[in-house]
Amino acid sequence: MKTAVVTGSARGIGCAICEQLAIDGVDNIVVCDLNAEWCNETVEAIKALGKNAIAVEMNVADSASVEGAVAEIIEKFGKIDICVNNAGITRDGLLMRMSEDDWDSVLDINLKGAYLVTKAVTKHMMRARSGAIVNIASIVGIMGNAGQCNYSASKGGLIAFTKSCAREFAGRNIRVNAVAPGFIQSKMTDVLSDEVKSKMMANIPMNRLGQPSDVAQAVSFLAGDNSGYITGQVLSVNGGMLMP
Ligand SMILES: NC(=O)c1ccc[n+]([C@@H]2O[C@H](COP(=O)([O-])OP(=O)(O)OC[C@H]3O[C@@H](n4cnc5c(N)ncnc54)[C@H](O)[C@@H]3O)[C@@H](O)[C@H]2O)c1
Repeated sequence: MKTAVVTGSARGIGCAICEQLAIDGVDNIVVCDLNAEWCNETVEAIKALGKNAIAVEMNVADSASVEGAVAEIIEKFGKIDICVNNAGITRDGLLMRMSEDDWDSVLDINLKGAYLVTKAVTKHMMRARSGAIVNIASIVGIMGNAGQCNYSASKGGLIAFTKSCAREFAGRNIRVNAVAPGFIQSKMTDVLSDEVKSKMMANIPMNRLGQPSDVAQAVSFLAGDNSGYITGQVLSVNGGMLMP
């Protein structure tokens, strides 16, 4: 019986990741988000696939909330096999106009959040001498993006964090990898103007935005047994937009 925890999974890419993990055989999926009620749709979608799902309230930027949530999950399922650090936000703006609050909120959720959750779950994975962690980074964490210095710094930091954790935990049979999505159709990208979207499209060789399921399939691969000898890697899911 495998148990997976996915942060920020009430909607969007996180919801698709939960569904894909269920399709690929994970038995228990823990849907974590700021508000447990927001998770109902994801929970129902997983149950419809015949797998077990529960909603757990977790603010990834708050250590007490993370520790409480992980304790609740361990009490219920006894172990955590897979953890996906997916929760993330944007607060875009040019550096000259970016408030300290916009910088701090993005770094707190996107980067410190992954640190807090990873610290809490690896305590249990180390005991089990087994685990897989997948961090959701971004193409802009590799190439940068004007107007997103906070977001790109958080995702670039997350990639470096992934590699350091992979080195620290490899001896305990815990693999740590990242997925770097390009532009994915979601609430995060729906707000972009048509002009920005068509400029983006001109740079995507596959000529379409990615779907949440494109990201979810890559995550499920890195979380599963078919990637048993892969750690510290960044898998780009971007339609060819960047070939590092
Ligand atoms: N959409 C894209 O094009 C794209 C591209 C690259 C990377 N990503 C990354 O993929 C991940 C998911 O993005 P999405 O497009 O599905 O976004 P989304 O805004 O649709 O979903 C993000 C979820 O995270 C939750 N969340 C926010 N703050 C949280 C906190 N402090 N604690 C717990 N949960 C919190 C939100 O409630 C929401 O349910 C993010 O890390 C994002 O940076 C998205």
